[in-house]
Amino acid sequence: MSFPKINPTNTAAWHKLAKHFDSIKNTKMQDLFSNDPSRAGRMHIDWQDFYLDYSKNRVNDETMRLLFQLAEEVQLKSAIDAQFSEEKINETEDRVVGHTALRDFGAMKPEVAETLQKIKGFTEEVIGGNWKGYTGKSIKSIVNIGIGGSDLGPNMVCDALQYYKNHLDLRFISNVDGDHVMETIKDLDPETTLFIIVSKTFTTQETLTNAQTVRKWFLEQAGEEAIEKHFVAVSSNLEAIAKFGISSQNVFPIWDWVSGRFSLWSAAGLSIACAVGYDNFENLLKGAHEMDVHFRTANFDENIAVVLALLSVWYNNFFNSESECVVPYSQYLSKLVPYLQQGIMESNGKSTDRNGDPVDYQTGSIVWGSTGTNAQHAFFQLIHQGTKLIPTDFIAFTNSLHGNEDHHNKLLANCFAQTEALLQGTYGSETENNFKVFEGNKPTNTILIKKLTPNSLGSLIAMYEHKLFVQGVVWNIFSYDQWGVELGKKLAKGTLAAIENEDGIDTLNISTRRLIDKFRG
Ligand code: F6P
Repeated sequence: MSFPKINPTNTAAWHKLAKHFDSIKNTKMQDLFSNDPSRAGRMHIDWQDFYLDYSKNRVNDETMRLLFQLAEEVQLKSAIDAQFSEEKINETEDRVVGHTALRDFGAMKPEVAETLQKIKGFTEEVIGGNWKGYTGKSIKSIVNIGIGGSDLGPNMVCDALQYYKNHLDLRFISNVDGDHVMETIKDLDPETTLFIIVSKTFTTQETLTNAQTVRKWFLEQAGEEAIEKHFVAVSSNLEAIAKFGISSQNVFPIWDWVSGRFSLWSAAGLSIACAVGYDNFENLLKGAHEMDVHFRTANFDENIAVVLALLSVWYNNFFNSESECVVPYSQYLSKLVPYLQQGIMESNGKSTDRNGDPVDYQTGSIVWGSTGTNAQHAFFQLIHQGTKLIPTDFIAFTNSLHGNEDHHNKLLANCFAQTEALLQGTYGSETENNFKVFEGNKPTNTILIKKLTPNSLGSLIAMYEHKLFVQGVVWNIFSYDQWGVELGKKLAKGTLAAIENEDGIDTLNISTRRLIDKFRG
């Protein structure tokens, strides 16, 4: 089996879609609904506790048929099989893409099972108060130090699962902003604080700088021998960890087949397991695995991630939409969008195809958003009446967690009202002036989930992981590398040398040089 490398624009489906687009681009969804009462009954997917309504999209049955044909022609099925069969589909880094193996309890690799047991044992000790600090006190606060995938996933999930949290105070440091580091730790007691340093490479400037600063702060109160009771690491770089002074017993492994932005399922999720307990962490993994099974086995027309991905391709490549918006109607999911931004934009922000040639079509779209109803009072005006077409995902839960029915009815009423307004606008009704005209015809997906649980959250995250993978397959790009981040990292070393002692300053662009001069004063 080999990973397909097919230029989507050369497929028959693409040509047919381009033609079809001309015939449908001015069609109003409002008319599609009035002419076809069974539309919503057809254009939805019911899967476990998920209900995806994709009927409010600028598509008809023919559009969907052609999009599925496109998926066939780019050999999506082989691509999915290649990923799950541990082929090295991350070719530019010569790596397997194995994050789904981290949550497959039925076929678990021994090293993964062993690490999960280690996480279980460790978290039970810490949560149960039996892991003692250097003065014999139990741990009260945990600080996760990492960046990108070593921060965004755990941070987002800890917030999303607040309802399931225990007594531990969880904090996150990612930015190499010393002020933020100090604000985060200033009221902490070193005797009762545990630091989890998460860095797959253990070479990331931000994380290492933050870890050193925190270590120094800690050693102002405690001796070196206390480090082993207060610092643990998640990494694949054992040598660098040892140099930092962390005992090998306190190391949780991560493997090169786990990419940073898909690592929350690994020991990188240690802070999640600390925050909500091991069982909830395991349920998160199981929920993700259930979505994996759905993704691997469901026909394309019943496959949530595939349908969402193809719709996104439709808007990105035919309507020329530049961005898409994600709006969860749950404050618990307030960090979902930044998390998805890394996942989606670091994965699909590529302009070289899998054959090594420059692409001449659009790839990854810009993802943005915020929680509803806050978003309605911020940027929704532009989605309703602006000049850009912004397909939007609405995510909502049927049940609230605290059971406040009045609030929840209002929250969901707003969610549904927005999709209705975006669809319907003022179409068909007389409006007295142009300023009050809403064209409607704005595409939305609604993902309605029974309840926010570790399990359903796992499924939701995995759904977006698979969506971005399908998009990458269609666009014929490699979704699992991130070379674009490397140049900035390299140059930052040069600009730091220039800031600190003018080293190499002459090699920099004049504008950058002037900024450095201004900064140095
Ligand atoms: O931003 C680039 C990146 O490599 C991400 O993919 C990764 O999540 C992050 O840096 C952190 O890397 P590490 O875990 O090695 O510190």
